[in-house]
Amino acid sequence: MNILVTGGAGFIGSHTLIELYKAGHTAVVVDNLANSNPESLKRVAELIGGGVTIPFHEVDVRDRAKLTQVLQQYQFDACIHFAGLKAVGESVAKPWEYYENNINGTLVLVDCMRQNGCKNIIFSSSATVYGDPAMIPITEQCPKGHCTNPYGQTKSMLEEILMDMQKADPEWNIVLLRYFNPIGAHPSGRIGEDPKGIPNNLMPYITQVAVGKRPELGVFGNDYDTHDGTGVRDYIHVVDLARGHVKALQAIGSQCGLAIYNLGTGHGYSVLDLVKAFERANNITIPYSIKARRAGDIATCYSDPAKAERELGWVAEYGVDEMCRDAWNWQKNNPEGYAK
Ligand code: NAD
Ligand code: UFG
Repeated sequence: MNILVTGGAGFIGSHTLIELYKAGHTAVVVDNLANSNPESLKRVAELIGGGVTIPFHEVDVRDRAKLTQVLQQYQFDACIHFAGLKAVGESVAKPWEYYENNINGTLVLVDCMRQNGCKNIIFSSSATVYGDPAMIPITEQCPKGHCTNPYGQTKSMLEEILMDMQKADPEWNIVLLRYFNPIGAHPSGRIGEDPKGIPNNLMPYITQVAVGKRPELGVFGNDYDTHDGTGVRDYIHVVDLARGHVKALQAIGSQCGLAIYNLGTGHGYSVLDLVKAFERANNITIPYSIKARRAGDIATCYSDPAKAERELGWVAEYGVDEMCRDAWNWQKNNPEGYAK
């Protein structure tokens, strides 16, 4: 298939491009580079090899005219829609910007797609839509919950919008992928997560402590109702997550209508479990201190990924040791991310 990949220069998009080409697909990338560096795409092409060039258009998905040009220049079988802003804390400070970029961007994209004859889309959703989950492990049957921040609201609202569109026009095939916590990097160490400024997420914070950029990790709370008091999450290797998108294309190909899948490993690790796993895998000590809870955090979140296995034949293959090894391999080889 030929795939329009919005946000393809970003963390998950860049890893997905490699898996798409490995599976025999081709792609065209649209990204406004708001949170990425085009160097990622150069490295993706190197990793794919064989002289492949992936067409890249520096276009904002809210720009109807430019997006239409791209849709008319190529024939797309489907779109994988990663483009969006994703920093939870920033979304609290800049709600308008988050609603405008994520919701308006997606509305413009799907409108341009349908006007140009492509009604197949895979959407990057998030476990955040479950709020404080009503069940653990979380199946897709779990009711959606209250999102504590505008970023999470955009994911939840966009799911509703896409579901309504599919109901009204059954020609649409829409796959909502609810990611758990993607970490790690391509095993080559050439592409990875390149957060701007102080990382919000746990793993990039740990790797920046490991490389000496930050003195210590702050652990947000040790009084949760978990085995060691720190928050429990379902960390998933970004390469496994990327492969999940390739598998989701099968659902599109078989005219799934609407389909929702959790992409996680089904295992929960606490903050301190992850710190210890990182120390063990890389033989590095991570200094940390316990801080207050972070507003909006929940105690425990991990998936039941059985539906994706049953229907797509997808299971996460990498374990937490490989996630820690590859996250560190990326950080130590690229201490300044793509900037150096
Ligand atoms: P990322 O920031 O690395 O990638 C997103 C890309 O979208 C960036 O390259 C950015 O420049 C681009 N972009 C943003 N707004 C755009 C616009 N209006 N037009 C064109 N391009 C635009 O983030 P990521 O971690 O790769 O996440 C990809 C998607 O997955 C996002 O939608 C994110 O919300 C979702 N998601 C991420 C996580 C996570 O923890 N990383 C978890 C759940 C869901
Ligand atoms: N944490 C720390 N210190 C840090 C950063 C995080 O202790 O410096 C803790 C958090 O309190 C939490 C755990 O590490 O218990 C994981 O936190 P992250 O910020 O890495 O991830 P979240 O689970 O909070 O959220 C992430 C993404 C969301 C996404 C969600 C579910 O940031 O966008 O996973 O997919 F919605």
